Amino acid sequence: MTSVLDQIEIVRLDEDTELFSFDCGDMDLNDFLLNDAKNYLKSMLAVTYLVKVEDEIVAYFCLSYDGLTRTTILTEEEKALWNRVGRKIPNSKRRKTYPAVKIGRLAVAEKYAGFGIGRRIIDAIAVMYLCEQHHAACRFVTVDAYRSALSFYERNDFRYLTTKDGEDDTRAMYFDLKAI
Ligand SMILES: CC(C)(COP(=O)(O)OP(=O)(O)OC[C@H]1O[C@@H](n2cnc3c(N)ncnc32)[C@H](O)[C@@H]1OP(=O)(O)O)[C@@H](O)C(=O)NCCC(=O)NCCS
Repeated sequence: MTSVLDQIEIVRLDEDTELFSFDCGDMDLNDFLLNDAKNYLKSMLAVTYLVKVEDEIVAYFCLSYDGLTRTTILTEEEKALWNRVGRKIPNSKRRKTYPAVKIGRLAVAEKYAGFGIGRRIIDAIAVMYLCEQHHAACRFVTVDAYRSALSFYERNDFRYLTTKDGEDDTRAMYFDLKAI
């Protein structure tokens, strides 16, 4: 029995891509794929990738360029969190904002949750920015993570940018591509 992970392929959505159904259990994320992703592409605001098993969309994610920016540092804890961001960056190159790519949306179809597809997507994004040539530099991957998915991102080595959003519906997290 071939595992679903061995069958997945990642394809870039374009304006002619036919989209049928998708259900990850979250209305907003379902709606984004089926009704907004193409408009975001046309407006050059986000590029969406479909994760497919044959013709079925088992997951999707979208990417946009971002800047990992230092939040206002009020506490020692905040200072420590920001120092952690630049830990692997030589002092002379440290700055207030670092180049990043943001995971704007990430969703795995409910019936495919827990098979390792989410982790495979994070790995694929890292490979995109570590192994493929790009016109501009990108050091970090960022995400405003849903509370329900925080431990998923923690398990994929994402870190919290600040404590200020500790009670919010989403939390700013980042992954250092050079930390791999
Ligand atoms: C959260 C989500 C992306 C995870 O994808 P997935 O394919 O189910 O996750 P994986 O199978 O790759 O899991 C990777 C690891 O994270 C853990 N994990 C996955 N989802 C988790 C969750 N919601 N809470 C806690 N841990 C989770 C898995 O147990 C696994 O742990 P391991 O290190 O022991 O193997 C997916 O469940 C999903 O799309 N949920 C609904 C929409 C959503 O919340 N998207 C994220 C928006 S920021």
